[in-house]
Amino acid sequence: MLDSNLSPPEIAAWLRETNAERLQTLWDAADQIRHERVADAVRLRGLVEISNRCSRNCLYCGVRAERRVERYRMTQAEILECAKFAKKNGLATLVLQAGEDRTLDAGFVAETVRAIRDDFGLIVTLSLGERTDSELVRWQEAGARRYLARFETSNPALYAALHPSVDGSGLTERIEFLKRLRKTGYEVGSGVMLGIPGQTFDDLARDLALFRELDLDMIGSGPFLPHPGTPLGSLEIRDGYWRTAPLASALSPFKSENADASRFTFRYPTSSDQVPNTNDVAFKVVALSRVLCPDANIPSVTSVATLDGSGGRKSALSRGANVIMPNITPTKYRRLYEIYPNKAATFEDAETTLQTALRQIDEIGRFPGVGPGSSKRFLERVAGVPRRER
Ligand code: 5AD
Repeated sequence: MLDSNLSPPEIAAWLRETNAERLQTLWDAADQIRHERVADAVRLRGLVEISNRCSRNCLYCGVRAERRVERYRMTQAEILECAKFAKKNGLATLVLQAGEDRTLDAGFVAETVRAIRDDFGLIVTLSLGERTDSELVRWQEAGARRYLARFETSNPALYAALHPSVDGSGLTERIEFLKRLRKTGYEVGSGVMLGIPGQTFDDLARDLALFRELDLDMIGSGPFLPHPGTPLGSLEIRDGYWRTAPLASALSPFKSENADASRFTFRYPTSSDQVPNTNDVAFKVVALSRVLCPDANIPSVTSVATLDGSGGRKSALSRGANVIMPNITPTKYRRLYEIYPNKAATFEDAETTLQTALRQIDEIGRFPGVGPGSSKRFLERVAGVPRRER
């Protein structure tokens, strides 16, 4: 019943499931598959938010270009300090994340990646938005191994409504970007937001089927958390659902800005079709991601921890997740990388954030991984091993 061939309607039924006993079978299956396929170590990735500059205006995001917030870009010396911390504390991977910062120079990134690899021996994951093929190749040659770019939603109309286009880039370009990453030889990570206004259970089921189709190496998805400084920040919630009317007015002024918007008709979901932005949904998505992509690396993400601290983090790890990405950004920059409010660990230092993660791993009877922890699916793919189902 719970195998990697689930159809989108079957996936949607699981997403809507409320029966506690049946849900328990989903949690158990996901935990079992996780144990069999990627074992018990929890992989730790040090997350460094290197710049909050952004040229995009995504309706949900607290660092969208139009918002007046103090902007920063970390210096190479500051980033290498984070690498030193990671090395000292046994974090084998450093994730460099930023907004779509066009002023983030490709040469700067290449030099920084090379220094992280050569001077500290760390694996580098990049999460810097959509970039050109030549930049991707250059960064890979400098030592970058992995790249993260969520596609956010596979519904083209919703994607267009949420993402005022820059340079004509829409969902098609986003998916193409993921394929370009794969072709360049990166380990590819993606994911979606959960409960973004306008997202239906059928949309989310198709998102999950797309994870499988893209054969992702890493899958990170978390609840949408409204930021008051954004167009989606003040929507009214009733009985756990976004109310349709304010949603319509929040989205419509932006539709015309997107090249794709005229090609797709966005339909507002009825409240029972709208996915709620809860951890309950997040756990189902983690578990179903594990069922559909048994060999992927799947993190328990920060927005889950933001909604329900330690409990949320640990539940995701017990329901299919095998990765934590402790934030090791210098404390002075954390409050400026406010993609949503009250982000977990905003006022902590790297040491505290890491110790918290280690304690949570210990509390569920697991242990931190040693070594690179590359996606098993990636290693098999490059060795030419065909995909195994479950
Ligand atoms: N709530 C939850 N997640 C968000 N992201 C951006 N803004 C929000 C928000 N308000 C997510 C997007 C992006 C990732 C870095 O953070 O999915 O890809």
